[in-house]
Amino acid sequence: MTLSEGILQRKLSQPFRYFPSVTSTNDLAKSWIMEGAPDGAVVIADEQLCGRGRFGRVWRTPPDAALAISVILRPPAAMIARINMIGAVSVYDLVAQIGCDAVGIKWPNDIQVQGKKISGILVDNVWMQDNLRGVVLGIGVNVRIDFSQSELRETAVSLEDVAGVPLDRAELIRVLLERLEFWYQRIDADDVFDTWRSRLNMLGHPVVAEGIAGRALDVTAEGSLLVEDHLGEAREVTAGDVTAVTGQRSEA
Ligand code: BTN
Repeated sequence: MTLSEGILQRKLSQPFRYFPSVTSTNDLAKSWIMEGAPDGAVVIADEQLCGRGRFGRVWRTPPDAALAISVILRPPAAMIARINMIGAVSVYDLVAQIGCDAVGIKWPNDIQVQGKKISGILVDNVWMQDNLRGVVLGIGVNVRIDFSQSELRETAVSLEDVAGVPLDRAELIRVLLERLEFWYQRIDADDVFDTWRSRLNMLGHPVVAEGIAGRALDVTAEGSLLVEDHLGEAREVTAGDVTAVTGQRSEA
């Protein structure tokens, strides 16, 4: 079903702005923060023309095929590292609720199904001098993007491919925002970190992260990855990508 303001109005209780086509929902959300958007406000688009991924990468959001949402949050500055975590566990909940098997979080916040990426998360913090004005939690989910002819066909997948049935994007957004609200309310509780950590799919496995080859040992409370290098030293990786060396996954 096509997304529309009216359909979303009937589904959502939080303030939102819907656009058929935008540059990037994260960019609109950042502007809305400066206008005084309330905690929990959401920007939703059917299509993004300049969707942004991590590290300046392009994120594809063709019309009628994906979720592109940016949630405005105003957490205490000490909780910033947890925004990634609540985003990832919320998307995981959504995907698991649909009945997909072998769901995992690829550190730090990609959601994979059967080892292929189904969702990505981009967090933008908005500072004014030393004051945190707000955080944008941007979430993209592939719902029915056809990757079969794309260079991403080995690494990306869409929800409908794995669910095997047509999915209603407005309902997916409702469930996702409901899961986010659940986790955001518990942002300072231990189970946010514990749940995120338990769903990471590479802990204990050989990986390469930011040029460090070794075994993914654990994660820190701030969300860094600890990789045991060939000398047996634990090296901390704060940001970047991790690649499984063997192609194995585990449901840690
Ligand atoms: C990544 O895996 O590189 C992160 C992708 C994040 C994409 C989402 S889609 C909604 C929001 N708007 C953007 O421009 N990016 C995020």
